[in-house]
Amino acid sequence: MEKLWKGRLNSDTDKLADKFNSSIDIDHILYKQDITASIAHAEMLGKTGIIPFSDAKKISKCLKEILKETDDGSLDIDRGFEDIHTFVEYELTKRLGDTGKMLHTARSRNDQVATDFKMYVKERISDVIEYIKELLGVLADHASDNIHTVMPGYTHLQRAQPVTLGHYLMAYAMMFYRDLKRYMSFDSMMNTCPLGSGALAGTTYNTDRHMTAAALGFEMPSLNSIDGVSDRDFATDACYANSMVMLHLSRFCEELILWASWEFKFVELSDGFSTGSSVMPQKKNPDIAELIRGKSARTFSDLNTLLVMQKSLPLAYNKDMQEDKEAVFDSFDTVSSCLKVFTAMLKETVFLKDNMKKAANKGFINATDCADYLVKKSLPFRDAYKITGQLVAYCIQNDYTLETLPLEIYKSHSSLFEQDVYKEISLDTCVERRISYGGPSAQSVLLQIEHIREAVNG
Ligand code: ARG
Repeated sequence: MEKLWKGRLNSDTDKLADKFNSSIDIDHILYKQDITASIAHAEMLGKTGIIPFSDAKKISKCLKEILKETDDGSLDIDRGFEDIHTFVEYELTKRLGDTGKMLHTARSRNDQVATDFKMYVKERISDVIEYIKELLGVLADHASDNIHTVMPGYTHLQRAQPVTLGHYLMAYAMMFYRDLKRYMSFDSMMNTCPLGSGALAGTTYNTDRHMTAAALGFEMPSLNSIDGVSDRDFATDACYANSMVMLHLSRFCEELILWASWEFKFVELSDGFSTGSSVMPQKKNPDIAELIRGKSARTFSDLNTLLVMQKSLPLAYNKDMQEDKEAVFDSFDTVSSCLKVFTAMLKETVFLKDNMKKAANKGFINATDCADYLVKKSLPFRDAYKITGQLVAYCIQNDYTLETLPLEIYKSHSSLFEQDVYKEISLDTCVERRISYGGPSAQSVLLQIEHIREAVNG
């Protein structure tokens, strides 16, 4: 078929080059945005009198039919075309003849693709925002149920200090909350419409770019036509935001995988989100969590593709930019499917509170509190730290915990110890005493949950 851009070229494109140059196998996904933007463009052309109003109406009506037929599957997107823009214009012209040929007045595929792609990114971002809100809701529910569930908090993956499961889950909620805010902040970054920038230098027609911008849900037209067609910041920002969600999911999955092991046994993943082994009948594997952890790599690569593709690109449009779509589509597909499956899995995850408590009892995680007990009795912290260290060493050698260590042993290390030490170092006390803002006390965690619920519902 004849190329839209045949212009000054005399001979046909080499078949190999033609296939290589084509992007329709990827960008057919943009059909809805392409047709919608074309409708807005046609209506603007009619309203401003750049083309006759009656022709604009015909074009707009016909484009709506093409959209409907593509949506319901009665019209196939012919993959023999170079890209989605070419296909839509061809289909229109096939149906309307010369009137169809008017559509491309005062625009270029360069501003077209920038507009379609930006609309696509904005739409997918609003879907991801909803998925994150669902995840935050599940996290807040689990956290509310576990405000008093004591578990060990870790540093260096060694038991460190007591926290609650509610506090722990809200730590992840804070990460996803930041992700939510990151996406939301893009609203003001992605509010300009490239349509009407033309190939790069605008157009000599008296277009109304404010009209098309408003029709397509943008606040205003892009301020500079060269930037309008060259800008892929919105796609790069989206890939970064998607990568951050995946990074957070990946950390969470890593913990769930550890927690599901017999060595921890802090969680029981539901059978619906686990797999077995074809040879080891006893196995229950956390495949879904592992796969999410693994898929994070894709989104980081997608971001990298966008960054490296744009590095050193001169203004304005260069064909290199055609490579942006596959990476961005993959990034959104990955983050969306991972968020959905993770949220469903987390909803059904059972937290084994007794095992958490047992682990908390074993690791001397109240040692800091024991030292603090002495500090409250006026011993300088460094001395209190040293005495507690000696007590822990004694416990390890003689198979005690700080809770079971006899009072006379305490006293033999410092006369400041009294019977009340046992209450002071009980794990429940240790958690509840941590009333500092953001800490694990029930009161503090409730505040965190409230904050997240407001973000989700507000
Ligand atoms: N398929 C192209 C892309 O995705 C559309 C823009 C083509 N523009 C051009 N001047 N060749 O980037």
